[in-house]
Amino acid sequence: MSVNLLLMGLPGAGKGTQAANIVDKYDIPHISTGDIFRAAISNKTPMGIEAKKYIDNGDLVPDDVTCGIVEDRLNQADTKNGYLLDGFPRNINQANSLEVITNKLDKNLDAVIEINVDPKVLVERLSGRFICKNCGATYHKLYKKPKVDGTCDVCGGHEFYQRSDDEPETVKNRLDVNIELNAPLIDFYKERNLLFTVNGDQDIAAVTKDIDKILSNLDS
Ligand code: AP5
Ligand code: MG
Ligand code: ZN
Repeated sequence: MSVNLLLMGLPGAGKGTQAANIVDKYDIPHISTGDIFRAAISNKTPMGIEAKKYIDNGDLVPDDVTCGIVEDRLNQADTKNGYLLDGFPRNINQANSLEVITNKLDKNLDAVIEINVDPKVLVERLSGRFICKNCGATYHKLYKKPKVDGTCDVCGGHEFYQRSDDEPETVKNRLDVNIELNAPLIDFYKERNLLFTVNGDQDIAAVTKDIDKILSNLDS
């Protein structure tokens, strides 16, 4: 059985954090357009250099670039048992493109999980986030500290960094842009009877539990 999923939520809602559990559970690839852009930026590819201009302002990378990346990614063999999209689509045009792509590939979405969080808490989530340089595991200075201070739980690394788009000036625009686009997208998936909403204003483990409940109902 394959499972094709989309995880939605505003910046800092916890998409990446929860995605890690879901992809472990189903052994499916985690497709985060933000992660794909950051990898391209650090490899200094032409696409990365172009995308960086938008990301550093907190704006969306143009749809033609982003949709092309997703189409290529969903064409890869490791998506045959399913996939988890994180952070794509972000507007109605992208959502329409995704429908066309997944129809063509016979990989239509089974469910859309929206992590709903009061925007007021998001600035604090983003400003407290830090990431392992070696393996990409994500932490928070208050809500998800490594078990041993200064050591990554996953890989034992000792070096961490903060994302450049988590600077306060960028965060404000990122939130404004995404809040405006989010409501129509939610309606889009509600109309298709694909939407499940979880309360993201709980601790990380409680959110994971709620997502697991939704997923086990899909299985049956
Ligand atoms: P992307 O990388 O997707 O960034 P984002 O959407 O802004 O979301 P984040 O990754 O910041 O947040 P998250 O929801 O993953 O939260 P996390 O789990 O880390 O995109 C970056 C940029 O790329 C975009 O701005 C855009 O420019 C471009 N881009 C990407 N996709 C695009 C698209 N489709 N079209 C066009 N452009 C695109 O958690 C955040 C923090 O909170 C962590 O520290 C975590 O430990 C903590 N935390 C998580 N859950 C909880 C909880 N329940 N309680 C307390 N703390 C928590
Ligand atoms: Mg993320
Ligand atoms: Zn690590």
